[in-house]
Amino acid sequence: MDYLQITGGKTLKGEVRISGAKNSALPILASALLCKNLLRISNLPDVADVKTLAKLLEHLGSEIEWVSPNELLIHSERIIHTKAIYDIVRKMRASILVLGPLLARFGKCEVSLPGGCAIGARPVDLHIKAMEKMGAEISIEGGYIVARAPKGLKGADVMFDKITVTGSENILMAAALAKGVTRIINAAKEPEVVQLCQILQSAGVEIQGVGSNELCVRGTQGELLEFKDISVIPDRIEAGTYLCAGAITNSAITIKNIIPTHLEAMISKLGEIGFKFENTQNSLKILPASKRYAFEIVTTEYPGFPTDMQAQFMALATQCQGSSSIEERLFENRFMHVSELQRLGAHITLRGNVAKVTGGEKLIGADVMATDLRASSALVLAGLVTEGNTKIHRIYHLDRGYEHLEEKFSNLGAQIKRLKEK
Ligand code: EPZ
Repeated sequence: MDYLQITGGKTLKGEVRISGAKNSALPILASALLCKNLLRISNLPDVADVKTLAKLLEHLGSEIEWVSPNELLIHSERIIHTKAIYDIVRKMRASILVLGPLLARFGKCEVSLPGGCAIGARPVDLHIKAMEKMGAEISIEGGYIVARAPKGLKGADVMFDKITVTGSENILMAAALAKGVTRIINAAKEPEVVQLCQILQSAGVEIQGVGSNELCVRGTQGELLEFKDISVIPDRIEAGTYLCAGAITNSAITIKNIIPTHLEAMISKLGEIGFKFENTQNSLKILPASKRYAFEIVTTEYPGFPTDMQAQFMALATQCQGSSSIEERLFENRFMHVSELQRLGAHITLRGNVAKVTGGEKLIGADVMATDLRASSALVLAGLVTEGNTKIHRIYHLDRGYEHLEEKFSNLGAQIKRLKEK
């Protein structure tokens, strides 16, 4: 296995191009199951999760040709079976996103339960309840979700008890081929959900309320869709991670290929901490702050402060004067990075789902372990300002969602290299 070694204390400079959004690429790939024509998808991030879902689609029968690591052609006209096997689904829980399209198109499918992950149980009960509302008969057999809708799915009023991103995306795709109108109430409105709506609209699906918490979808009654070429939107979480790299090292760096409105919660929080910015239409430069103040964060759904940026801001809090407070409201166990940051000398206390960070302490290099995707990126950020060498193990977590991470950080002036465990 590989590990990263970072020598801290370097000031960063220059610019970094933000890649396509993993959390948009995944529902877009799943939606290709609804498409009858040859579909071109570009600006895909070259990350493990995208490769895993592409493998699952090929296993189902989709024909995929990789034009480059960031672009593919996919033809899903001839799907040979509708079973998403455990061996692939266990590697990437977002594989649950094939449930809606397969059920809507074939009236039956088996999808392995994704199981939990480091940050929480991650149930899919809301996905299942919503599809039952649309007429599906669903049972759990041998670790698989076995779903049937012999007469096809029918439009229904679907109310989500909790806002769920992939739950909203699954039902959107199911509703696109259903008979009649589906109202999705309490839907997620993350930019990745919005892009999926726009793609379905351009394929001829009537959707009202895009960008709001209530979506109204008129299905095609099983008629497959004619998609246009797709370019994946920039990754707002990768963008936020690199903004935090500039913030934690108090360096001037520029992030390019972004959609600034997607970053508003993070930019506003960095402004509170003391940072100023220079922005153009699709780039943003963060400038060094004379003083960095402690802050408060409560994670919530978009457009609030994203849970996927919580760990990165916790690393930043170790460099801000005073006591910062970080409350995680979406996942029950998303503080795995705390004990690793403490190994570097961070002063963090946990009480329930609130972490208090006392900033200003020097961090000293040590061996630390990545536990999940965003926790790993927090350890990279901390390594940038840690005295001496920090070694981050189990970085396969990072490879799931950050494209060419060490290359991008090296180009910004960080002293970082990928080495092999002995
Ligand atoms: C998506 O996960 C993202 N993943 C996550 O990003 C992100 O953290 C999360 O949304 C929240 O923004 C993708 O888009 C592929 P949820 P998702 O369903 O859809 C509960 C990353 O780092 N819930 O919005 O799985 C759930 O337990 C990843 O890129 C149910 O109870 O998250 C959680 O508490 C990590 N039952 C809350 O809802 C359900 O059926 C929000 O989860 C579904 C969800």
